[in-house]
Order: sequence, then C-alpha cells, then structure tokens
Amino acid sequence: MQVPLRPAWLALSEHARSIKHRHLRALFAADPERFDRFTVAHDQILLDYSKQRLDSQTMELLRQLADQAAWRTWIERMRSGEAINHTEGRAVRHVDLRAGDSAPREVKAVLERMAEFCERVHAGIWRGFSGERITDVVNIGIGGSDLGSRMAVHALAAFQQPDLQVHFVSNLDSADLASTLTRLNPRSTLFIVASKTFTTLETMANARTARDWLLAAAGDDSAVARHFVAASTNLEATAEFGIAAKNVFEFWDWVGGRFSLWSAIGLPIALAVGHRNFRRLLAGAHDMDEHFFNAPAESNLPLTLALVALWNTNFLSAHSHGVFPYSHSLALLPSHLQQLEMESNGKRANRDGLAVDYSTNPILWGEAGTNGQHSFFQLLHQGSALVASDFIALGKSDFPLPGHHSSLLASCLAQSSALAFGQTVEEARAAGIPDHLLAFRRFPGNQPSSTLVLPELTPFSLGQLIALYEHKVFCLGILWNLNSFDQWGVELGKQLTGRLAPCIRDEAPTDSLDASTRGLIGHLRQIRK
Ligand code: F6P
Repeated sequence: MQVPLRPAWLALSEHARSIKHRHLRALFAADPERFDRFTVAHDQILLDYSKQRLDSQTMELLRQLADQAAWRTWIERMRSGEAINHTEGRAVRHVDLRAGDSAPREVKAVLERMAEFCERVHAGIWRGFSGERITDVVNIGIGGSDLGSRMAVHALAAFQQPDLQVHFVSNLDSADLASTLTRLNPRSTLFIVASKTFTTLETMANARTARDWLLAAAGDDSAVARHFVAASTNLEATAEFGIAAKNVFEFWDWVGGRFSLWSAIGLPIALAVGHRNFRRLLAGAHDMDEHFFNAPAESNLPLTLALVALWNTNFLSAHSHGVFPYSHSLALLPSHLQQLEMESNGKRANRDGLAVDYSTNPILWGEAGTNGQHSFFQLLHQGSALVASDFIALGKSDFPLPGHHSSLLASCLAQSSALAFGQTVEEARAAGIPDHLLAFRRFPGNQPSSTLVLPELTPFSLGQLIALYEHKVFCLGILWNLNSFDQWGVELGKQLTGRLAPCIRDEAPTDSLDASTRGLIGHLRQIRK
C-alpha cells in the first residue's frame, strides 16, 4: 500500500492545511505548557521539539500513522533476524553487536580478540618489523568503514590513549594517503584495512599503496603481518591481500556498512580510546536500543525524532535538514549522519519496487556551532528556504576552559530562538533601527528546530546519540515504506568508473560516450600530456 493512502496520512494532510501557516510565536502564545508538552527525555538525554511547527493533534496523528505503519511489528521483524533488507536478502542485526551479555557468541569472541589486540598495542607488546613500538595507526576505509569510526575518534578526543595517534585515510585522491604517510614512520605504523567487502576501489588502492610504502622500508614481505590487520567479512580476500588470518577481525553480512562502527570496523575507536571505552560506547547504544524497543510512543526518542522529520518533510515541505552540534568534538557527526540518513532513506522505490509519490529523505548537512553561525546561518534566518534543524548541546564541555561553555550554550539557544521567533518590523523599530533599514532587519522566524541536550560527551552518551539517529532512520524507513538497508544508488557510478578509467588513460575509445564526458576526457588528455 502506498503510504499516503493510510488514513492517518490523509488526516495529517488535512490537519497540515490549518497549521501550516501558524507562526511559532502564535503556537507558543497559545500554550504556556508548550515546553513541557513537547519534550521527551531518556536517561539524561532531553529532546525539546517545542520549536517545531506542530501541536498536540499533529503528534497524535503522527503516532497513529506510526501504528498504522506497524512500527512495533517492524522492530520485532528486525530483532527476530528476518531478512528485512529484502533486496539483498539480509537480516539487519547491528543491535546484536552491542547487546552485551546477550550478544551472539561470535560477536563476543571478536570483541575479546579486539580487546586483546588493543592491550598488546597499548602495552607495546605488538611491535613493528624492526622492533619499534606502534605509535601511529592508519585506518584505511571509506563510507561506513570510515565515517563512523572517524567521527567517534574525533568525538572522544578527551578519552584519547597516550602515545598513540589514529589517522584516517579514505579518499582515492592520493593527496589523502600521501599527506598522511609523509608524517609517519613505517617502522612504527600499523594499518587497519577496514572494508566489509574488501573489494572497494578506494580502499584497495590505498591499502596496496600503503603496503608498497611499508615494503619499501622493510624489504621483506613478512613485515606485512606486523603492520597490517583487517576488519572485514571477506576472509578470502583478506588472505589474498596477505593479511594473516589471526590479524583479521571478522564481522558479518548482517551488519550494514553505515551501521558497522559497533563491529570490528570500530577497531580504530578501541585503539584510540581503549577497549573499555569502546565497550562503554556499545553499552550506550544498547541502552538506547532498549529504550527504543520498550518506551511507549509518546516518550520514545527515536520515534519522536522520526515523526517530526516526517512532518517537516511531507507536510511542511522542508527538504533540507541541518544538524548543528554545539560541540567541536561532534564536528564530524553531520558527515556520519549524511551517510546514515541519505544512504538509508534517499530512495524513490518503495519496498515493493513502486515509485513513491511523496518526498523521502531530505538533504542533510551541518556544521559545528558556533562556526556555522558565521557562514550559512544568514540563509536560515533571512533566506527563502524552509530548513528544519537539530541543535545538539552538551551540559559540560569535554575540554573546559574558563568562560567558554556558557557562551557556547547561549549561542546555541539564541540561534534556535531567533530562527523560531524572528524579529518583526515593530520590534526592529523599537530597538532603534532607522526606517530605511527596517526591511533588512526583519527576521521572519518560523524555522522549525529541535534541541537535543546531553549532559556531557562520554563514550556512553555518544553511543546513545548515534543509536538514537540509527533508530530514527529505521522508523522513517517504516513510515516511508522503504528498505533503509540497501544502497543500490551508489552502484551505477562505480560501474561507470570502471568503464571510463581506460578512456582517461587513452587506452580505450570514447566514441560511444555522451558528448560532455567525451569532451571532458579529450580536454583532460590534453592537459595531462
Ligand atoms: O558507498 C557505498 C558503500 O557500499 C557503503 O555503503 C559502504 O559503507 C562503503 O561503500 C564501503 O564499503 P566496504 O566496507 O565494503 O569497503
């Protein structure tokens, strides 16, 4: 069934007609309890969605929609191991990776091996080919095998192990690998080749070049065993690359790339912050899983985030979604969420393969506050686009210095408030703005936002936060009737790359190509001569 035919969807369309043009000023004026009514909390995480353009009836109808979409049944289907990723014939079991004592035996076994490995590296027992201890780890991976762990390592800088630097290389552009290697010593550098498939073009190219760089210094193939480990599901390919079986940390096809930081793909996190902190990260995610599975709809954080997103996208036509963590350490969260949300729900075929006739995932982007305020916030305040936002604030700084954090928090609240309420011409005049500037000093407001508040950034709270967004994505997939766990859309470009590479090298004719690609290749051949 197409989603809009669900009764609650039709009721929401009707309801949106009346609420669409109401200003947040009016909504707040009409309801002094609005903050209490539209906040939900779990553990110490608070979600304030009172600055969203909705009322109690909106939420009531949205929850009816979730029930009509059978969100609880979908949770059960996921948890029972059903192949809900039906286009790839795979189960979706990333929550099993963080289930603690109830995790599957094979998950626990890999976690144990990761712990032991981390201990050996940290204690200087694991040494390079010349006997030097490891000082630098380079994670080579891309997409889900890079973004999540890169983001978490950056976010948990306050928990960084001493004497070990973790670097990330993802791009096929050799500038990425070359600029990293130039700072490193092959004798004390360990590479993690992180790839679910172990066939990804970028990762394999970087891994081969890194291996050549190592062998140029070591002069002996046996050095690979001391300097290369892998996180992968493809044990044949890791062996073929020359990585000893004992140095491969396995995971399974039921772990989607963008949900894989909880698996062996999280090895760089465990190395950066210690295995105990990695376990705390898993525990935080597990805590959010339990909340999501058990909390009623009214107080369910992931479901609420999803319902608000659906409302903004499908009923208010906000096709852009900003994420603004007021935390320098969370600066990479928007990049991780871009893959998580856009690769999961950036789709136009529903689960039955029919083209949808409603909007699916908005474009997600973002930047850490306060930096964003001094670049694109102008457009949010006075531009013509409706943009929905998530602000994320921390009660405490993870790197406290006197005088900074209260101003940071004030900036966060000031922005969401200014976006919601704006400034009228009358207010501008009363503030002393001269008449000829009044038109430029008017802020229309009515830009919807939610604010998430975490008490502090720890491995546990970071785990909760990431899992919160993962389940939001899952709920949206249910509501939009999409398979959130495949990513066929990235395949076409990959295939074309294979066809065009020989053309760029002047080893294949370009006659059959479109005029633009042919023209560009001709130009590139000229300038590369
Ligand atoms: O870009 C597509 C994608 O398949 C992502 O879904 C995945 O996270 C990434 O490539 C990397 O894949 P792999 O881990 O197999 O190298």
